[in-house]
Amino acid sequence: MVNEIMPGVFWVGYVDWDIRRFHGHELSTHRGTTYNAYLIRDEKIALVDTVWGPYADRLMENIREVVDPARIDFVVANHAEPDHSGSLSEVMRHAPNATVVVSPRGAESIPGHHHQDWRFRAVKTGERISLGRSELIFVEAPMLHWPDSMFTYLTGRNLLMPNDAFGQHYATDFRFNDQVDPHALYHEALKYYANILTPFSPLVLKKIQEVLALGLPVDMIAPSHGVIWRQEPLQIVHHYQEWAEQKPERRAVVLYDTMWGATRRLADAIGDGLAAEGVPHQAFLLSATDRNEVLAEVFRAGAVLVGSPTLNQGLLGSVIVLLEDLKHLKFRIPVGAAFGSYGWGGESVKLIEEKLTACGMRLAAPGLRVQWQPRPENLVAAESLGRAVAAAIKAG
Ligand code: FEO
Repeated sequence: MVNEIMPGVFWVGYVDWDIRRFHGHELSTHRGTTYNAYLIRDEKIALVDTVWGPYADRLMENIREVVDPARIDFVVANHAEPDHSGSLSEVMRHAPNATVVVSPRGAESIPGHHHQDWRFRAVKTGERISLGRSELIFVEAPMLHWPDSMFTYLTGRNLLMPNDAFGQHYATDFRFNDQVDPHALYHEALKYYANILTPFSPLVLKKIQEVLALGLPVDMIAPSHGVIWRQEPLQIVHHYQEWAEQKPERRAVVLYDTMWGATRRLADAIGDGLAAEGVPHQAFLLSATDRNEVLAEVFRAGAVLVGSPTLNQGLLGSVIVLLEDLKHLKFRIPVGAAFGSYGWGGESVKLIEEKLTACGMRLAAPGLRVQWQPRPENLVAAESLGRAVAAAIKAG
């Protein structure tokens, strides 16, 4: 279904209610997603981004409701990932006269994905293409979130189309932020940032400054996933500035896995210690909890406490994955602590501590190793560990 979001600007994308795993199986999308594509009808016709390949026919139907696809003059491919460029071949089959507009790095990635000899135009930051009454202005946005990523701005409509940036995996009947549940929207936008954009936070801050410095008026921010920011559009820019700073919050997250309940009992006692000191916490059994939802909660926590029993002189698999995520997402969490039960070897706590310190965390206290099932004094020690972490959070 086509939606005219502004005079002469049409949403022609696809709402994917079904998808539950994204980027292969790396990212959970419990609320589905949308692939947003925008058709601009001026003296010239421009399509900004496409949709994932399986839904190319739906995109073409939508385009045909507005114009004959053969009339398209420009197809802007802001980013090569197949959720946005996957239908490019189908569009170009019906728009043989169109020029494919890409960033300089897109001149590598788009041909690399499609292997077609189309007419390309690579544009740098500040370059413009006239559509008649309006113009497209381009801003390269490398690492938001690929080197090829680009923002496209439409003059006269004050419309910023930043591709993945400011998006959310949120399928809905509605196209605008003021039409949906604000709490669900905030959660999905934050989850998206935490799981995809956190490693590039310094670049996010620089890019936002650069775009704001251009002084372009912004009436709408129309990302390539989820709803369009129409009501107070800059609110999401301000959230990104806040998130990119990664200022830790006064709360802790306890992340653990357990085989026969001993490490879980330590996690419970640690939680008691945190609560006794007035520091709120959440605890997650990693093997039973969605990894991306956990990471959204870990993002900007004041401390993480990670627990694993020892298995084959190592860690349980879910804990290994979590520790890898903490490293590669470059979360800036100031305080960490480790705990775990063991039967014979007991290497897990040392291994966790090495990973936490490699992520730049300072250890609030020596890790807690407990052999067999915890005795009362072990649970007291776990509570003390929770108190020590609470004190470290408060000390800042
Ligand atoms: Fe980087 Fe939505 O693709």
